[in-house]
Amino acid sequence: MRILVTGGAGYIGSHVVKALGEQGHDLLIYDNLSTGHDWAVLYGRLEVGELADTRRLDEVLQAFRPEAVLHFAASIQVEESVREPLRYYRNNVANSLNLLDAMERHDVRNLIYSSTAAVYGIPERMPVDESLPLNPINPYGASKVMMETVLRDIADARENFRYIALRYFNVAGADAGNRIGQAYADATHLITRALKTANGQYPKLSVFGTDYPTPDGTCIRDYIHVDDLADAHIRALNYLVETGKTEIMNCGYGHGFSVREVVDVAKKVTRIDFPVEETERRAGDPPELIADSSKLRRLTGWLPRHDDLEFIIRTAWDWELKYRSLLKGKV
Ligand code: UFG
Repeated sequence: MRILVTGGAGYIGSHVVKALGEQGHDLLIYDNLSTGHDWAVLYGRLEVGELADTRRLDEVLQAFRPEAVLHFAASIQVEESVREPLRYYRNNVANSLNLLDAMERHDVRNLIYSSTAAVYGIPERMPVDESLPLNPINPYGASKVMMETVLRDIADARENFRYIALRYFNVAGADAGNRIGQAYADATHLITRALKTANGQYPKLSVFGTDYPTPDGTCIRDYIHVDDLADAHIRALNYLVETGKTEIMNCGYGHGFSVREVVDVAKKVTRIDFPVEETERRAGDPPELIADSSKLRRLTGWLPRHDDLEFIIRTAWDWELKYRSLLKGKV
């Protein structure tokens, strides 16, 4: 298939591009390289451009004539979204509308949309299935809910438009071949932050809150390896094209680990006893987030291959070491 991938030079997008490329698809990656990197695009052709640039989008769709779009390009940091909501609504909503407009003009009918567990806010029960109410508690989550609403309404209005929204839980790890991974100079996510602390980039790792109603008092998350998530995209796309059915699916393993457990495994993998301090809770963190992914499994046949926290952290660590030497080489 001819597939347009927005944000395909970023962390998750680049892993999905790798998986699609391995299957022989014809790929065009549209990315502004704000957080992505040209070297992360292992397959297809990279077109550097903005989703705000509607004329450019038109030219790209006109020339490439994609059969499907995978839309990863978005701003993704919860804390930043609280400080700079407008940036989130502009990038995640307004720019997505530009893309959808262009898709309509060029009659592109299939979309895989990147959504998030943040749409649920603090869920009322665990594990979280797709029928739970959407109660986002920050502008990032709200921007994704808005787009899910827009997509639902377009699919209702346009008979030939269909999409799958994938709600990601905590995505982590890196390409087992160590070619790509999370490549941000700074890190806010737990696993990357822990590994950058082990690497000496930060003096210590803060554990945000030890008084949650969980067995060890720290928050529990469902960490999914990025290659398993990439496979979920391939299967979702096949399902969409084969059935023509719009769906929303959670992506996670269905069980989780506490912050303390993640820290212990990070120390074991790195063999570095990095400093850890216990601090106050971080605003807006739900105590527990576990995906019920039975829908994804049932409809697409998805089966995790890397449901192993040690493997996830090991691939992230191998990548972190390589990325750090890449960065050093550039300075
Ligand atoms: N944490 C720490 N110390 C750190 C970083 C994180 O203790 O330095 C804790 C957090 O408080 C949280 C857990 O580790 O309890 C996981 O935090 P992350 O920042 O790694 O991930 P989140 O669960 O906050 O974020 C994920 C996705 C978001 C999504 C959100 C939904 O990355 O895109 O889940 O709640 F919005």
